[in-house]
Amino acid sequence: MTDLSTKYLGLLLKNPLIVSASPLTAYIDNLQRMEVAGAAAVVLPSLFEEQIELQGMGVDKVTPLNQQTLPDALQHLPEMKGYNRGANGYLAHIYQAKKAVSIPVIASLNGYYSGGWVQYSRLIEAAGADALELNIYYLATRPNISSQEVEEMYLHLVRDVKTAVTIPVAVKLSPYFSAFANMATQLDATGVDGLVLFNRFYQPDIDLETREVVPSLDLSSRGELRLRLRWAAILASLVKADLAVTGGVEQGTDIVKSLMAGAKATAVASVLLKHGIEHIKHILAELTQWLEDHGEKSVSAIQGTMNQQRVADPAAFERANYMNVLKSLEGESPD
Ligand SMILES: Cc1cc2nc3c(=O)[nH]c(=O)nc-3n(C[C@H](O)[C@H](O)[C@H](O)COP(=O)(O)O)c2cc1C
Repeated sequence: MTDLSTKYLGLLLKNPLIVSASPLTAYIDNLQRMEVAGAAAVVLPSLFEEQIELQGMGVDKVTPLNQQTLPDALQHLPEMKGYNRGANGYLAHIYQAKKAVSIPVIASLNGYYSGGWVQYSRLIEAAGADALELNIYYLATRPNISSQEVEEMYLHLVRDVKTAVTIPVAVKLSPYFSAFANMATQLDATGVDGLVLFNRFYQPDIDLETREVVPSLDLSSRGELRLRLRWAAILASLVKADLAVTGGVEQGTDIVKSLMAGAKATAVASVLLKHGIEHIKHILAELTQWLEDHGEKSVSAIQGTMNQQRVADPAAFERANYMNVLKSLEGESPD
Protein backbone atom coordinates (compact mmCIF):
# COMPACT_ATOMS: atom_id res chain seq x y z
CA MET A 1 0.00 0.00 0.00
CA THR A 2 1.51 3.33 -1.08
CA ASP A 3 1.76 5.88 1.71
CA LEU A 4 0.48 9.19 0.35
CA SER A 5 0.69 11.09 3.63
CA THR A 6 2.64 14.31 3.96
CA LYS A 7 3.21 16.93 6.60
CA TYR A 8 2.30 20.50 5.69
CA LEU A 9 2.22 23.44 8.14
CA GLY A 10 2.65 20.92 10.92
CA LEU A 11 -0.61 19.22 9.88
CA LEU A 12 -0.51 15.57 8.97
CA LEU A 13 -2.30 15.32 5.63
CA LYS A 14 -3.49 11.99 4.25
CA ASN A 15 -2.17 12.98 0.82
CA PRO A 16 -0.68 16.05 -0.87
CA LEU A 17 -3.89 17.26 -2.58
CA ILE A 18 -5.48 20.32 -1.00
CA VAL A 19 -8.48 22.09 -2.49
CA SER A 20 -7.44 25.71 -2.96
CA ALA A 21 -9.55 28.77 -2.22
CA SER A 22 -12.32 29.33 -4.77
CA PRO A 23 -16.10 29.69 -4.74
CA LEU A 24 -16.24 25.88 -4.61
CA THR A 25 -15.13 25.85 -0.99
CA ALA A 26 -17.81 28.35 -0.01
CA TYR A 27 -20.43 25.61 0.35
CA ILE A 28 -20.52 23.07 3.15
CA ASP A 29 -21.91 20.29 0.95
CA ASN A 30 -19.02 20.84 -1.47
CA LEU A 31 -16.52 20.51 1.38
CA GLN A 32 -18.11 17.19 2.31
CA ARG A 33 -17.90 15.99 -1.30
CA MET A 34 -14.24 17.04 -1.41
CA GLU A 35 -13.51 15.02 1.71
CA VAL A 36 -15.30 11.97 0.33
CA ALA A 37 -13.43 12.29 -2.99
CA GLY A 38 -10.16 12.19 -1.03
CA ALA A 39 -9.02 15.82 -0.58
CA ALA A 40 -6.53 16.11 2.27
CA ALA A 41 -7.52 19.65 3.31
CA VAL A 42 -9.57 22.59 2.10
CA VAL A 43 -8.85 26.30 1.89
CA LEU A 44 -11.94 28.47 2.28
CA PRO A 45 -12.47 31.39 -0.13
CA SER A 46 -10.62 34.49 1.01
CA LEU A 47 -12.21 37.05 3.17
CA PHE A 48 -11.15 40.39 1.75
CA GLU A 49 -9.56 42.95 3.98
CA GLU A 50 -12.00 45.54 2.71
CA GLN A 51 -14.84 43.43 4.06
CA ILE A 52 -13.30 43.54 7.53
CA GLU A 53 -12.82 47.29 7.21
CA LEU A 54 -16.42 47.75 6.19
CA GLN A 55 -17.66 45.75 9.12
CA GLY A 56 -15.46 47.80 11.44
CA MET A 57 -17.20 50.89 10.07
CA GLY A 58 -20.57 49.37 10.77
CA VAL A 59 -21.29 48.88 7.06
CA ASP A 60 -22.15 45.27 6.35
CA LYS A 61 -23.21 45.77 2.78
CA VAL A 62 -22.14 48.11 -0.02
CA THR A 63 -25.18 49.73 -1.56
CA PRO A 64 -25.36 52.60 -4.07
CA LEU A 65 -26.60 54.77 -1.21
CA ASN A 66 -23.77 54.22 1.25
CA GLN A 67 -21.08 53.83 -1.43
CA GLN A 68 -20.73 57.62 -1.64
CA THR A 69 -20.05 57.90 2.07
CA LEU A 70 -17.17 55.40 2.07
CA PRO A 71 -13.52 56.43 1.89
CA ASP A 72 -11.99 56.43 -1.62
CA ALA A 73 -10.17 53.16 -1.05
CA LEU A 74 -13.42 51.32 -0.42
CA GLN A 75 -15.70 52.92 -3.00
CA HIS A 76 -14.91 50.45 -5.76
CA LEU A 77 -16.26 47.54 -3.77
CA PRO A 78 -19.09 45.49 -5.16
CA GLU A 79 -21.69 43.96 -2.90
CA MET A 80 -19.80 40.87 -1.71
CA LYS A 81 -21.95 39.57 1.06
CA GLY A 82 -23.33 36.67 -0.92
CA TYR A 83 -19.86 35.46 -1.95
CA ASN A 84 -18.36 34.55 1.37
CA ARG A 85 -21.02 35.83 3.70
CA GLY A 86 -19.06 38.85 4.91
CA ALA A 87 -16.81 39.10 7.91
CA ASN A 88 -19.21 37.64 10.48
CA GLY A 89 -20.57 35.02 8.13
CA TYR A 90 -17.01 33.93 7.40
CA LEU A 91 -16.44 32.92 11.00
CA ALA A 92 -19.68 30.97 10.94
CA HIS A 93 -18.53 29.26 7.73
CA ILE A 94 -15.29 28.15 9.41
CA TYR A 95 -17.21 26.84 12.38
CA GLN A 96 -19.70 24.94 10.21
CA ALA A 97 -16.94 23.60 7.97
CA LYS A 98 -15.10 22.23 10.99
CA LYS A 99 -18.25 20.46 12.13
CA ALA A 100 -18.95 19.06 8.67
CA VAL A 101 -15.57 17.57 7.72
CA SER A 102 -12.70 15.96 9.56
CA ILE A 103 -9.94 17.08 7.20
CA PRO A 104 -8.09 20.32 8.08
CA VAL A 105 -9.88 23.55 7.23
CA ILE A 106 -7.62 26.44 6.26
CA ALA A 107 -9.04 29.97 6.34
CA SER A 108 -7.81 32.66 3.97
CA LEU A 109 -7.41 36.41 4.23
CA ASN A 110 -6.77 38.59 1.20
CA GLY A 111 -5.35 42.09 1.49
CA TYR A 112 -2.20 44.05 2.22
CA TYR A 113 -2.46 46.34 5.22
CA SER A 114 -2.46 45.10 8.79
CA GLY A 115 -5.49 47.02 10.11
CA GLY A 116 -8.19 44.58 10.95
CA TRP A 117 -6.25 41.47 9.95
CA VAL A 118 -4.51 40.94 13.23
CA GLN A 119 -7.62 41.06 15.33
CA TYR A 120 -9.56 39.13 12.74
CA SER A 121 -6.94 36.41 12.52
CA ARG A 122 -7.55 35.77 16.23
CA LEU A 123 -11.25 35.38 15.54
CA ILE A 124 -10.45 32.96 12.71
CA GLU A 125 -8.41 30.92 15.13
CA ALA A 126 -11.19 31.04 17.71
CA ALA A 127 -13.72 29.90 15.08
CA GLY A 128 -11.69 26.70 14.76
CA ALA A 129 -9.58 27.05 11.60
CA ASP A 130 -6.66 24.64 11.54
CA ALA A 131 -4.43 27.12 9.74
CA LEU A 132 -4.53 30.51 8.07
CA GLU A 133 -3.41 31.42 4.56
CA LEU A 134 -2.57 35.07 3.95
CA ASN A 135 -3.07 35.98 0.35
CA ILE A 136 -1.16 39.25 0.26
CA TYR A 137 -2.31 41.14 -2.77
CA TYR A 138 -0.67 44.45 -3.39
CA LEU A 139 -0.18 45.98 -6.80
CA ALA A 140 2.58 48.58 -6.51
CA THR A 141 1.32 51.04 -9.11
CA ARG A 142 2.48 54.24 -7.43
CA PRO A 143 5.97 55.25 -8.54
CA ASN A 144 6.83 56.78 -5.18
CA ILE A 145 6.53 53.44 -3.40
CA SER A 146 9.77 51.48 -3.55
CA SER A 147 10.17 47.72 -3.67
CA GLN A 148 11.77 47.88 -0.22
CA GLU A 149 8.69 49.57 1.21
CA VAL A 150 6.44 46.96 -0.34
CA GLU A 151 8.57 44.14 1.05
CA GLU A 152 8.59 45.75 4.50
CA MET A 153 4.82 45.97 4.37
CA TYR A 154 4.56 42.25 3.64
CA LEU A 155 6.99 41.34 6.39
CA HIS A 156 5.29 43.59 8.91
CA LEU A 157 1.93 42.08 8.15
CA VAL A 158 3.16 38.51 8.42
CA ARG A 159 5.00 39.19 11.69
CA ASP A 160 1.90 40.82 13.18
CA VAL A 161 -0.36 37.93 12.26
CA LYS A 162 2.21 35.32 13.37
CA THR A 163 2.37 37.01 16.76
CA ALA A 164 -1.40 37.17 17.06
CA VAL A 165 -2.23 33.49 16.50
CA THR A 166 -0.95 30.07 17.47
CA ILE A 167 -2.33 28.22 14.44
CA PRO A 168 0.08 27.76 11.52
CA VAL A 169 0.25 30.61 9.03
CA ALA A 170 1.09 30.31 5.33
CA VAL A 171 1.65 33.17 2.90
CA LYS A 172 0.36 32.90 -0.63
CA LEU A 173 2.72 34.92 -2.76
CA SER A 174 2.96 36.42 -6.17
CA PRO A 175 6.12 35.76 -8.19
CA TYR A 176 6.46 39.47 -9.03
CA PHE A 177 9.36 40.43 -6.78
CA SER A 178 12.61 41.63 -8.28
CA ALA A 179 14.58 39.43 -5.87
CA PHE A 180 12.20 36.64 -5.06
CA ALA A 181 14.67 34.33 -3.27
CA ASN A 182 15.62 37.18 -0.96
CA MET A 183 11.99 38.01 -0.24
CA ALA A 184 11.18 34.37 0.43
CA THR A 185 14.04 34.02 2.90
CA GLN A 186 13.02 37.23 4.67
CA LEU A 187 9.50 35.87 5.02
CA ASP A 188 10.94 32.59 6.22
CA ALA A 189 12.84 34.44 8.93
CA THR A 190 9.51 35.70 10.35
CA GLY A 191 8.81 32.08 11.31
CA VAL A 192 5.97 31.75 8.83
CA ASP A 193 4.98 28.09 8.48
CA GLY A 194 4.39 27.88 4.75
CA LEU A 195 4.88 29.64 1.43
CA VAL A 196 2.26 29.03 -1.23
CA LEU A 197 3.55 29.42 -4.79
CA PHE A 198 1.85 31.29 -6.48
CA ASN A 199 -1.08 33.56 -6.40
CA ARG A 200 -2.69 34.29 -9.78
CA PHE A 201 -3.75 37.82 -10.54
CA TYR A 202 -6.92 38.49 -12.39
CA GLN A 203 -6.00 40.89 -15.14
CA PRO A 204 -8.47 43.46 -16.41
CA ASP A 205 -9.44 43.30 -20.06
CA ILE A 206 -10.86 45.91 -22.44
CA ASP A 207 -14.32 45.39 -23.88
CA LEU A 208 -14.03 46.82 -27.39
CA GLU A 209 -17.77 47.25 -27.84
CA THR A 210 -18.54 49.11 -24.63
CA ARG A 211 -14.99 50.53 -24.31
CA GLU A 212 -14.98 49.62 -20.66
CA VAL A 213 -12.34 47.96 -18.54
CA VAL A 214 -13.82 44.66 -17.48
CA PRO A 215 -12.63 42.14 -14.89
CA SER A 216 -11.42 38.96 -16.52
CA LEU A 217 -10.85 35.64 -14.85
CA ASP A 218 -9.37 32.74 -16.77
CA LEU A 219 -8.94 29.33 -15.29
CA SER A 220 -5.32 28.20 -15.24
CA SER A 221 -3.58 25.89 -17.68
CA ARG A 222 -0.91 23.26 -17.03
CA GLY A 223 1.87 25.45 -18.50
CA GLU A 224 1.62 27.65 -15.42
CA LEU A 225 3.01 24.85 -13.31
CA ARG A 226 6.56 25.32 -14.57
CA LEU A 227 7.09 28.70 -12.91
CA ARG A 228 6.04 27.06 -9.64
CA LEU A 229 8.31 24.06 -10.15
CA ARG A 230 11.31 26.31 -10.75
CA TRP A 231 10.77 28.32 -7.56
CA ALA A 232 9.85 25.34 -5.41
CA ALA A 233 13.08 23.68 -6.55
CA ILE A 234 15.15 26.80 -5.83
CA LEU A 235 13.55 27.60 -2.47
CA ALA A 236 13.38 24.04 -1.16
CA SER A 237 16.85 24.15 0.31
CA LEU A 238 16.74 27.86 1.22
CA VAL A 239 13.72 28.04 3.52
CA LYS A 240 12.44 26.14 6.54
CA ALA A 241 8.80 26.95 5.72
CA ASP A 242 6.83 24.24 3.97
CA LEU A 243 6.22 24.92 0.30
CA ALA A 244 2.91 24.37 -1.45
CA VAL A 245 2.42 24.63 -5.19
CA THR A 246 -0.77 26.11 -6.60
CA GLY A 247 -1.30 26.98 -10.25
CA GLY A 248 -1.55 24.59 -13.14
CA VAL A 249 -1.81 21.36 -11.13
CA GLU A 250 -4.20 19.20 -13.13
CA GLN A 251 -2.92 15.63 -13.09
CA GLY A 252 -1.33 13.17 -10.69
CA THR A 253 2.00 13.65 -12.44
CA ASP A 254 1.82 17.41 -11.75
CA ILE A 255 1.70 16.54 -8.06
CA VAL A 256 4.68 14.20 -8.52
CA LYS A 257 6.68 16.99 -10.15
CA SER A 258 5.74 19.49 -7.45
CA LEU A 259 6.76 17.09 -4.69
CA MET A 260 10.02 16.27 -6.40
CA ALA A 261 10.76 19.99 -6.75
CA GLY A 262 10.33 20.32 -3.00
CA ALA A 263 6.67 21.01 -2.26
CA LYS A 264 4.98 19.37 0.69
CA ALA A 265 1.54 19.79 -0.86
CA THR A 266 -0.30 21.06 -3.91
CA ALA A 267 -3.52 23.06 -4.07
CA VAL A 268 -6.01 22.83 -6.92
CA ALA A 269 -8.91 25.00 -8.01
CA SER A 270 -9.24 25.35 -11.80
CA VAL A 271 -9.18 21.64 -12.55
CA LEU A 272 -12.12 21.10 -10.18
CA LEU A 273 -14.01 24.05 -11.64
CA LYS A 274 -13.51 22.45 -15.08
CA HIS A 275 -14.14 18.79 -14.27
CA GLY A 276 -16.04 18.76 -10.99
CA ILE A 277 -15.18 17.94 -7.40
CA GLU A 278 -15.17 14.17 -7.95
CA HIS A 279 -12.18 14.63 -10.27
CA ILE A 280 -10.08 14.62 -7.08
CA LYS A 281 -10.41 10.80 -7.07
CA HIS A 282 -9.01 10.63 -10.57
CA ILE A 283 -6.00 12.83 -9.77
CA LEU A 284 -5.21 10.82 -6.63
CA ALA A 285 -5.52 7.56 -8.58
CA GLU A 286 -3.01 8.91 -11.11
CA LEU A 287 -0.64 9.89 -8.31
CA THR A 288 -0.86 6.46 -6.71
CA GLN A 289 -0.43 4.75 -10.07
CA TRP A 290 2.70 6.75 -10.87
CA LEU A 291 4.26 5.94 -7.52
CA GLU A 292 3.47 2.24 -7.89
CA ASP A 293 4.75 2.08 -11.47
CA HIS A 294 8.02 3.63 -10.35
CA GLY A 295 8.47 1.47 -7.27
CA GLU A 296 8.04 4.38 -4.83
CA LYS A 297 6.49 3.33 -1.53
CA SER A 298 5.60 6.79 -0.28
CA VAL A 299 5.20 10.44 -1.15
CA SER A 300 7.98 11.33 1.29
CA ALA A 301 10.39 9.14 -0.71
CA ILE A 302 10.20 11.51 -3.66
CA GLN A 303 9.87 14.83 -1.83
CA GLY A 304 12.68 17.20 -2.77
CA THR A 305 14.52 14.63 -4.87
CA MET A 306 14.62 17.10 -7.77
CA ASN A 307 15.24 20.30 -5.85
CA GLN A 308 17.99 22.54 -7.10
CA GLN A 309 20.57 21.18 -4.68
CA ARG A 310 19.92 17.60 -5.67
CA VAL A 311 19.64 17.68 -9.45
CA ALA A 312 22.65 16.84 -11.54
CA ASP A 313 22.51 20.21 -13.28
CA PRO A 314 21.42 22.98 -10.84
CA ALA A 315 21.80 25.61 -13.57
CA ALA A 316 18.91 23.94 -15.36
CA PHE A 317 16.60 25.93 -13.05
CA GLU A 318 18.34 29.19 -13.87
CA ARG A 319 18.83 31.52 -16.78
CA ALA A 320 21.85 29.70 -18.17
CA ASN A 321 19.42 27.14 -19.40
CA TYR A 322 17.74 29.65 -21.67
CA MET A 323 20.43 29.17 -24.30
CA ASN A 324 20.01 25.38 -24.21
CA VAL A 325 16.27 25.80 -24.77
CA LEU A 326 16.89 28.05 -27.75
CA LYS A 327 19.46 25.62 -29.08
CA SER A 328 17.02 22.73 -28.78
CA LEU A 329 14.56 24.68 -30.95
CA GLU A 330 17.13 25.13 -33.72
CA GLY A 331 15.97 23.51 -36.90
CA GLU A 332 12.35 23.39 -35.68
CA SER A 333 11.37 26.74 -37.14
CA PRO A 334 9.43 26.75 -40.40
CA ASP A 335 11.47 27.76 -43.48
C1 LIG B 1 -12.82 31.42 -9.45
C2 LIG B 1 -11.61 31.47 -8.58
C3 LIG B 1 -11.68 32.08 -7.33
C4 LIG B 1 -10.56 32.15 -6.52
N1 LIG B 1 -10.66 32.72 -5.29
C5 LIG B 1 -9.56 32.77 -4.49
C6 LIG B 1 -9.62 33.33 -3.19
O1 LIG B 1 -10.68 33.75 -2.72
N2 LIG B 1 -8.48 33.36 -2.47
C7 LIG B 1 -7.29 32.87 -2.92
O2 LIG B 1 -6.28 32.92 -2.22
N3 LIG B 1 -7.20 32.31 -4.15
C8 LIG B 1 -8.29 32.25 -4.92
N4 LIG B 1 -8.21 31.68 -6.15
C9 LIG B 1 -6.92 31.12 -6.59
C10 LIG B 1 -6.90 29.63 -6.35
O3 LIG B 1 -7.03 29.32 -4.99
C11 LIG B 1 -5.60 28.98 -6.87
O4 LIG B 1 -4.52 29.29 -6.01
C12 LIG B 1 -5.24 29.42 -8.27
O5 LIG B 1 -6.37 29.45 -9.12
C13 LIG B 1 -4.19 28.47 -8.87
O6 LIG B 1 -4.63 27.15 -8.85
P1 LIG B 1 -5.32 26.45 -10.12
O7 LIG B 1 -4.36 26.51 -11.23
O8 LIG B 1 -5.56 25.04 -9.65
O9 LIG B 1 -6.57 27.20 -10.38
C14 LIG B 1 -9.33 31.59 -6.97
C15 LIG B 1 -9.27 30.96 -8.22
C16 LIG B 1 -10.38 30.90 -9.01
C17 LIG B 1 -10.28 30.21 -10.34
